[in-house]
Amino acid sequence: MRTPIIAGNWKMNKHLEDAIALAEAVASATSDVKNVDVVVAPTFVCLASVASALEGTHVGVAAQNMHTATSGAFTGEISPTMLTDVGCGHVILGHSERRQFFGETDRGVNEKAKVALAHGLIPIICIGESLGEREAEQTMDKVSFQVTAALSGIGEEDITKVVLAYEPIWAIGTGKTATPEQAQEVHASIRALLAQLYSEDIAQQIRIQYGGSVKPANIADLISQPDIDGALVGGASLKADSFSQIVMASDKG
Ligand code: 13P
Repeated sequence: MRTPIIAGNWKMNKHLEDAIALAEAVASATSDVKNVDVVVAPTFVCLASVASALEGTHVGVAAQNMHTATSGAFTGEISPTMLTDVGCGHVILGHSERRQFFGETDRGVNEKAKVALAHGLIPIICIGESLGEREAEQTMDKVSFQVTAALSGIGEEDITKVVLAYEPIWAIGTGKTATPEQAQEVHASIRALLAQLYSEDIAQQIRIQYGGSVKPANIADLISQPDIDGALVGGASLKADSFSQIVMASDKG
C-alpha cells in the first residue's frame, strides 16, 4: 500500500548543463514507471532550471537542505518559500554529511522538518548509525533517538507525508551496502517505533527509504524487504541509466 519512493541525491555534483541533461534523461528513461515516486535532488543553483526542465513529467525535485526562515539576514542560506517558488516539492534534511561536516543537530532537523511541512514541502529525513555505533551494538539506540527527535511535535495530520531515509553512515559512498536483512531489521524497528509514537495504522503508511551504496545490482533484494519503501541514492543517481534501472526495479506495478 506504500508507494515506493526513489530519490537521487546528487550532492555537490553536476554543473548546470549536465544537471538538466541528467534530469531529462531520467524522466525519459523512467516514463513507463507506474507505481514509484521519483525525485532528484540537484544543488541549489540548479534547482530552478532542473525543475523547469522536469515540469509536466512524473519526476519531482528535492533540495538538499533548507533554512527555517522565509527570508532575512542569513547569509548563504535558502528559505522554504524560495524552494517552493522554483517548483521544489521535497527537501532532504539531516543528511549525515550535513550532520558531520556542517554541524546539523537533531533539534535543527526537527525544526526544519516542521517548517518544511508548514510550507507544503515533503521532508526526507535522514538517520543512521556510524560504523563504531554499529560495532558497539548501538544502532537502534542511535536511530530511535534520531527518529524520535526529528519527529517531535509533528502531529498525525502531517506525519504520513514525511519520508524517513535510513542511511547507515558506514554504507555511504563506500560500496558496502547493508545486507537486505540488516536494513530490514532496522526498518522494522523504526516502524515499530513509529507505531509507538503514533499508531500501528499510521506507522504502516510512513515510507522508509534505505540509502548507502544502492545500485542496480542490489535494489531488487532491498526493495523486496517488507519494510523498505524505496531508496535514497547517491553515486548511482549521477548516471541516468543506473538511476533509471533502480527506479524501474522498484516498480511493483
Ligand atoms: P551512495 O549511494 O553514494 O552510497 O550515497 C548514499 C547517500 O548518501 C544518499 O543520500
